[in-house]
Amino acid sequence: MDKGKLPLHVGVIMDGNGRWAKKRLMPRKLGHKYGMDRMIGLAEHAKKSGIKYLTVYVMSTENLARRPEDEIEGLFGLIRKYFTVNVKKLFDCGSGIKIIGDISVLPKDVIKILEDAEKASPEKAEFTLVFAINYGGRREIINAVNKALLRGGSVDENSFEALLYTGGVPDPDLIIRTGGEMRLSNFLTYQSAYAELYFSDVLFPDFSDAEFDKALTDFAARERRFGRA
Ligand code: FPP
Repeated sequence: MDKGKLPLHVGVIMDGNGRWAKKRLMPRKLGHKYGMDRMIGLAEHAKKSGIKYLTVYVMSTENLARRPEDEIEGLFGLIRKYFTVNVKKLFDCGSGIKIIGDISVLPKDVIKILEDAEKASPEKAEFTLVFAINYGGRREIINAVNKALLRGGSVDENSFEALLYTGGVPDPDLIIRTGGEMRLSNFLTYQSAYAELYFSDVLFPDFSDAEFDKALTDFAARERRFGRA
């Protein structure tokens, strides 16, 4: 693919794990386990394709508040495993991670695991996997506004963006949502202003590298005008 038409930053709303599990008479949390395996594969594929940032929606503020406790516990279990075991492979290949969201309310051991993993992440990485955990776009904007108010004076786009969780990460060029729903669900609310959107009916654990490539091909064919005529 023409590198000029490749998105620098792709966001993925990994929807459909629960339905995928239900179809197989499995508990929902097992759907998330298969989802995590697919996320690991997709990150490798995205890196090989030349994408620089991949942001994955692991848990929204709404998920944390509204999902049954055992499903949330299952997700914490996956987070513990990913950030103590799987992440090492990513670091060994020179890739980095960043966590966005309010992790302060998570169980203490999970906070420590996430902070340690971020500290161990290489400083200058060619590819960064960004994890949205207890993330909400509205909350991120409100936090940034409060930080700006505390600082005093006014903000412009550059100084405001630096106050968001994503400070330093370019805006997403493409946002993919799997699982058939056509909405953004509080994902990268500020940053998605000019993102191209791609919706797939495929449930996330089945969202193969080839399905991801279809989204890239679709993106490459779009004309991005950013308000120009
Ligand atoms: C939405 O599907 C998915 C989530 C709430 C969790 C996504 C998490 C992962 C894919 C893996 C986690 C990765 C790490 C690193 C721990 P859903 O449950 O809403 O599916 P449904 O719409 O079919 O019910």
